[in-house]
Amino acid sequence: MGNWKLNFNVGEASIYLHKLQKKIANYRDIEVVVAPTSLCLQPLSLQLERSKIKLGAQNAFYQDFGAYTGEISFAELRGLVDYCIIGHSERRYIFHEDDKMIAKKVAACIRNKITPVLCIGETESERSFGETADVIKDQLLGGLSEIGVEDVPKVIVAYEPVWAISSTKDAKIATPDEIAEVVEIIRANLKEVYGADISENVPILFGGSVKPTNAGAYLTTPGINGLLIGGASLILEQFTDIIEIAKRVK
Ligand code: 13P
Repeated sequence: MGNWKLNFNVGEASIYLHKLQKKIANYRDIEVVVAPTSLCLQPLSLQLERSKIKLGAQNAFYQDFGAYTGEISFAELRGLVDYCIIGHSERRYIFHEDDKMIAKKVAACIRNKITPVLCIGETESERSFGETADVIKDQLLGGLSEIGVEDVPKVIVAYEPVWAISSTKDAKIATPDEIAEVVEIIRANLKEVYGADISENVPILFGGSVKPTNAGAYLTTPGINGLLIGGASLILEQFTDIIEIAKRVK
């Protein structure tokens, strides 16, 4: 899944996707999703109507309609997108979204038949103070707190350590061991609250400075099912290289 963040206008996004469609015409078994800005979703959903490339939104508000100036809702996104990124660290730290708001967004997403990609991850200072397990538990269970157990299998979890996101100052590259350790924490929490079956089957993506050079190692990290890619998803060659690697790994 490529998270384009606040990049590419409608024209740029459309040209990129034309090229991407040509490059990856021949693939099976893996899912390719791009998450452009909200303004691009309507035209791109028409462009991708018969394509295998799926669309994701980057954010929406939890109320379906009403006096909420400047917001768009999951109800509006219904039918336009298959996925929505929720709780990205940029939303948590720049836009002050807390676990309560994120939980309402996860519920609104599911209510509107969109798969939430719930992002969780510790900051560098939380990690250095040994708080990673607590932060992961709070963000994971907090984010799931407004949905019933029957809806938890409809959620995708993305582990994105804030210190590994390429736009973070002095970003570091996470090692597969560091990732595997946190994935274990995520699955242990899911198991404790929702049972072994759900814990084993909820897909977990990794995000943070994913590049063609490390995608293979991350995709073969125990418990990881896919990638959430920022910067490299904006560069067509890099994104297609990563897709090729995913095909091979699969
Ligand atoms: P980068 O791949 O640029 O580190 O971004 C990761 C991310 O935030 C994806 O949601």
